[in-house]
Amino acid sequence: MTPPDGLFEAADALRGAASVAVLSGAGVSAESGLATFRDGCDALWGRYPPERLATPEAFAADPALVSEWYDRRRLACLAAEPNAGHRALAALERWLDSRGGDCVVLTQNVDGLHRRAGSQRVVELHGSVLTWRCTRSGERVTPGPEPFASYPLPSHAGGLLRPDVVWFGEALPEAALAAAARAVASCDLLLVVGTSARVWPAAGLIGAAAAEGATVVEVNTADSEASADVDWHLRGPAGSVLPRLVVAAFGALAPARDAESPPPV
Ligand code: OAD
Repeated sequence: MTPPDGLFEAADALRGAASVAVLSGAGVSAESGLATFRDGCDALWGRYPPERLATPEAFAADPALVSEWYDRRRLACLAAEPNAGHRALAALERWLDSRGGDCVVLTQNVDGLHRRAGSQRVVELHGSVLTWRCTRSGERVTPGPEPFASYPLPSHAGGLLRPDVVWFGEALPEAALAAAARAVASCDLLLVVGTSARVWPAAGLIGAAAAEGATVVEVNTADSEASADVDWHLRGPAGSVLPRLVVAAFGALAPARDAESPPPV
């Protein structure tokens, strides 16, 4: 397969970056079999109206429907496996670590796949569908891999369990947003992977990084709202472009086990 335009230039920039932030979206998990929200005939918001499923008002109006839909998504995420794109980002973090740099993944995804692939610094901007929280006490629980016994599921405190995700009309977790703002303000390079860049405030992180002088590299199968403003748009699926990018930058996917002596590149 011919490399996407800009791969080697982006790899040079990546090799020269001490601090890297990654903004990821649903596209990075598409090759794990999880549907995206807005593109393609399987897109979630094309098949299901978000105002009936992804707002506090929808949950109040029909908690059974919303709980069951999110429980199915939870089970789909648990059943999915991280793909080569997730693993390449975890390898990128290890490369940066081994060179005294740093790498943080800012994800809009709620599927937990970055962590399962081995990324250690992950900021979940839109929460996690793997954890649920009580509407009364706020206590968080991590349910097991079976479907819930009922929809909705009552909590111990006499409330209901709701997914620990950010719904339309809700604020992003303050700590996550602050960590993301710090990361884009200080990174040398922002990698924007598999997001349509249509949902704010996450989409605003791209312009914020560029305004601070960061190089912005996009990996996406199609144009996004951000494409016109990035330095390089590497067009293609994250599962093949990201491993190629990391190999082109560092010579291999996996850094040496001994962090003191990474292999020559
Ligand atoms: P979208 O569904 O809006 O966009 C997915 C993007 O991934 C598109 O730009 C696709 O072109 C791209 N894409 C698809 N397959 C790809 C692949 N294999 N490799 C690379 N790119 C690929 O998803 P998000 O941008 O993540 O929020 O959506 C942002 C937020 O909107 C979500 O977190 C969710 C949703 O409403 C909430 O629920 C709060």
